[in-house]
Amino acid sequence: MIDPKSLADRFPGDFVFGVATASFQIEGASKEDGRKPSIWDAFCNMPGRVYGRHNGDVACDHYHLWEQDLDMMKEMGVSAYRFSIAWPRIIPEGTGRINEAGLDFYDKLVDGLKARGIKAFATLYHWDLPLALMGEGGWTARSTAYAFQRYAKIVMARLGDRLDSVATFNEPWCSVWLSHLYGIHAPGEKNMDAALHALHYTNLAHGLGIDAIRQVAPQVPAGIVLNAHEVIAASDSAADKAAAERAFQFNNGVFFDPIINGQYPAEFMSALGDSMPPIEDGDMAIINQKLDWWGLNYYTPMRVADDPTPDAEFPATIGAPPVSKVRTDIGWEVYTPALKSLVAGLYNRYELPVCYITENGACYNMEVENGEVNDQPRLDYYVEHIGIIADLIKDGFPMSGYFAWSLMDNFEWAEGYRMRFGIVHVDYDTQVRTIKKSGKWYSELAAQFPRGN
Ligand code: NOJ
Repeated sequence: MIDPKSLADRFPGDFVFGVATASFQIEGASKEDGRKPSIWDAFCNMPGRVYGRHNGDVACDHYHLWEQDLDMMKEMGVSAYRFSIAWPRIIPEGTGRINEAGLDFYDKLVDGLKARGIKAFATLYHWDLPLALMGEGGWTARSTAYAFQRYAKIVMARLGDRLDSVATFNEPWCSVWLSHLYGIHAPGEKNMDAALHALHYTNLAHGLGIDAIRQVAPQVPAGIVLNAHEVIAASDSAADKAAAERAFQFNNGVFFDPIINGQYPAEFMSALGDSMPPIEDGDMAIINQKLDWWGLNYYTPMRVADDPTPDAEFPATIGAPPVSKVRTDIGWEVYTPALKSLVAGLYNRYELPVCYITENGACYNMEVENGEVNDQPRLDYYVEHIGIIADLIKDGFPMSGYFAWSLMDNFEWAEGYRMRFGIVHVDYDTQVRTIKKSGKWYSELAAQFPRGN
């Protein structure tokens, strides 16, 4: 096993090693202190959407156990915690009334982090849209972008003085395509028109959110977290290479191009532009604002081939089989070189600010045996991927930090609780946390870095 201390030597002293979670996945207390349902509460209630009809009612009960969880992070020696704020706790109906009790929870959480010398990295939107906003059309409605702006302002006015970082959105790829085109995430829509509306209004909301942050808390470094895909063509044929470019535009370009360059990708627009909602004067300038950092969530590459079906809808690609034989328990291919080529390729294409790896990790479902969780494959995954980040730093890429997904096992969306990504095991019957072998290793690495603000 790689000694965490020698790996630590490959990183600058101020590099941030943290852990990540998200509100809906860990908090529970779904009906407490004025919280109203999100689209995920409703989705969980619909038969056939989430494995085992699992839901977020209790989750890791972090809403009640947060102090204990923060103590555990401190013990583990991590220097930062990436968490998300539940919009339906703050503005339960999405617009209108503000719920002070919701703000109080995050206020205590942030104070608790500061008291323990842990940096607070907040995400404003990690998919729990207030259900009431579906009355207007949810993300397919322009009004939702403005509702998000107001929510961002309210949160930043309350927490901005203590946050070390803020992200507008987590993985808009999921809340746009997976949620509105593929029907796998809430609200479960399967419609290109709806998805294209969600795309533009999410991008607009990101820009309006950045405006809100700059107005209310300009000192907080602001960015966005993207699950950029390393798109790998199945072969060297011209058709597969063209397919890979289309897939790049569809999966990455639709976010990077407007945010970094102020326009949507050309080929994407000529194929689907007619179904986009009206892009109003000034929209692209709102979206295209300078960021202080960007976050990359990376797990696995995307392999694609050309879809030869006549009239196949853009991006007209089909999935291609993995090359590496190693797969995690959720079926995702483990292929480390893709992380390196992805980061290098994105810096080559776009003028990007500094990068945080805001999520990286692996799903392995080992249970506790004799008080321990021997998750060696997850540990190996971390060793290899963190090694790649060290290589990228050596090559001169501005990598500022790394967050393990996840601090603890949690609600893995459509997969429910059966898929475990934690470096800490959660027993959902007793809420007992057990630091896994990977978690112990990661703590040793993280603890090499100075903490505190
Ligand atoms: C990305 C998401 O941000 C997070 O919520 C999810 O649990 C992990 N990836 C694993 O799928």
